[in-house]
Amino acid sequence: MRHPALRGLTLALLLGVALLLMRPAQAEDGYELWLRYLPLPAAQAVPYRQHATQLVLDAGTPTRAAARAELLRGLTGLLGAAPAAADRATIDGAIIAGTPASSPLIAALNLDLRDLGPEGFLIRSLSVEGHRTTVIAANADIGVLYGVFRLLQRVQTGQPLQQLNLRDAPREKLRVLNHWDNLDGHVERGYAGDSIWDWWKLPDYLDPRYTDYARANASIGINGAVLNNVNANATILRHEYLLKVAALAGVLRPYGMRVYLSARFSAPMELGKLNTADPLDPAVRAWWHDKADEIYKLVPDFGGFLVKANSEGQPGPQDYHRSHADGANMLAEALAPHGGVVMWRAFVYSNENPDDRAKQAYTEFKPLDGQFRGNVLLQVKNGPIDFQPREPFSPLFGAMPKTPLMMEFQITKEYLGFATHLVYLGALYEEVLRADTYVRGQGSTVAKVIDGELDGHALTGMAGVANIGSDRDWCGSTFNQANWYAFGRLAWNPAESARDIAADWARMTLSRDEVVVKTVVDMMMASREAVVDYMTPLGLHHLMGTGHHYGPMPWDASGARADWRPVYYHRADGKGIGFDRSRSGSNAVAQYAAPVAAQFGDLKQVPDAYLLWFHHVPWDYRMRSGHTLWEDLVAHYTRGVDEVKQLRAAWSGLQGRIDAQRYAKSASFLLIQQNEAQWWRDASIAYWQSLNGLPLPAGQTPPAHSLDYYKALEFPHAPGR
Ligand code: GCU
Repeated sequence: MRHPALRGLTLALLLGVALLLMRPAQAEDGYELWLRYLPLPAAQAVPYRQHATQLVLDAGTPTRAAARAELLRGLTGLLGAAPAAADRATIDGAIIAGTPASSPLIAALNLDLRDLGPEGFLIRSLSVEGHRTTVIAANADIGVLYGVFRLLQRVQTGQPLQQLNLRDAPREKLRVLNHWDNLDGHVERGYAGDSIWDWWKLPDYLDPRYTDYARANASIGINGAVLNNVNANATILRHEYLLKVAALAGVLRPYGMRVYLSARFSAPMELGKLNTADPLDPAVRAWWHDKADEIYKLVPDFGGFLVKANSEGQPGPQDYHRSHADGANMLAEALAPHGGVVMWRAFVYSNENPDDRAKQAYTEFKPLDGQFRGNVLLQVKNGPIDFQPREPFSPLFGAMPKTPLMMEFQITKEYLGFATHLVYLGALYEEVLRADTYVRGQGSTVAKVIDGELDGHALTGMAGVANIGSDRDWCGSTFNQANWYAFGRLAWNPAESARDIAADWARMTLSRDEVVVKTVVDMMMASREAVVDYMTPLGLHHLMGTGHHYGPMPWDASGARADWRPVYYHRADGKGIGFDRSRSGSNAVAQYAAPVAAQFGDLKQVPDAYLLWFHHVPWDYRMRSGHTLWEDLVAHYTRGVDEVKQLRAAWSGLQGRIDAQRYAKSASFLLIQQNEAQWWRDASIAYWQSLNGLPLPAGQTPPAHSLDYYKALEFPHAPGR
């Protein structure tokens, strides 16, 4: 008979095992993003295992090694077993991946890879040496890695691996994140903690998180990162910082990502001790040439510079009475011998200029079309003001056919509820990309402008202001991860559907349970219109708190600059509301192609969504709905709040179907969003009533507090400033 103590131990062990088995689905903290690779239920795994018996992939380069590691990691997680490493397919179900140069098997297949470019790939079910195989082939290693991620995505989202015949290549050349990260770790307009770049410990310590960051980006095709804030500090260009940049570049390189830097235009003065930064000054030009040479010695595949010049107090060529083209071309010339590009921002406006802020970027840049060097892209924000919940597309899209225009979207939610509000930006991006500029007749969409199709540009790009920080879940909330994901997918292919992207994201990130997927996708797709409704319906814009941009402050007429005051934008008084940008007003409509100008400029034709963006109308203006403007305006605010209540209800129906940790966090955030939606509605309505003296439309609930209450609220510690 066994010793009693031993028996006790066995019992305790058994109990422990039983407890482990009874434990609910493991809590998840969101770190794995959409790359969770959780085991498929046994029955679902079986057909996939038949297509993952062997892996023939020569991991002889860092990128192919990354591809191999990802495939093994993904398939082991999803299917419970790794395919066996092999030199050739000896049984059915092998995966063969590589380039013709790296794999004799692939070379022997004589596949037509011509239209795939350097980053595209194909995935085909083919018979190789008498065995059923799945072939992932590309011209270059990075295409192999992208193909591997696509194959994994198919397994993650439950799509079959039989009879595959996929070919895909990105439609945008540069697909970059813009990090507004300062060297002290603070992220401007960041709501997910501090910067992920630990400049202090670089270059000696490489946080493993950098690799996971690169994996996540590669999985959606993002191929570049601007590491520092557009409000740039020249220090990033000092040699000791360039060593840190080089170390980061080394981590990102195997994943197909290049690093870029925001360059401060006055750096030759700050670092080089020159007494000017005049772009036509020979000493200044020589300084930038030397700096470029120094950078490329350390980072041979350096992407180039992003520049915010003569905007919001930043230095620029106009300080020396030179044009934006003079400034951009000087930097472009320094980078050109190394293959780098300049992404010059078009986000300029001046308080001294009495003209409508919405017109100023176009006025400034349109005359410069044709004057930029071939390696300059103009980076244009999606709308003419600044990342508002809804803006019409920027009139620059389509207006500068000789200049490659790059899209700048914001992924971080500076004006859309910071980290906590659920707002799926895929819907916003899709709306902008599908907007028709009409510059070359119907169908001249913004997507076709930026992917180069309309004007025949090979240099193309899309930038997203990152929402990534040191928070464990990277983006501050689970749903914010979807905005990073959607940005990448749309940068790869601007014609994709936001809904389809949301469905893939939900399946990979939350659950393959179809109830979850359907509910979550519907929530996401409704969320963008909800935020427009409770913050700035019917074309209103820029009504948030000055400086921190948190919460409603439509009454604010203080602040240093007129064009930073909400009253500048709504122009409301006792009689009416809205910014007249029609011919009788600022005539901003004239910056659009004739059919668009005719539509936006005509009160009878303008879509309701842009009414108060382009027109000033009386409060009793009769809407298409038959109601007055005032009635519809209040109805929109209320609808926005109701929509958030529905989002909450829908989410609570998913309790138990999603791991407890992520469920609870989103549930709390939805409550914050509901309260803040109510606040936006009530404060806005209270203010408009103080101007128009109108009673609330029948059936509408009065604001919870007085206008004075809302005006007295202060937020000295709002994040992200
Ligand atoms: C907004 C934002 C600033 C940012 C600027 C820009 O105005 O509030 O923080 O610097 O955009 O895009 O340059």
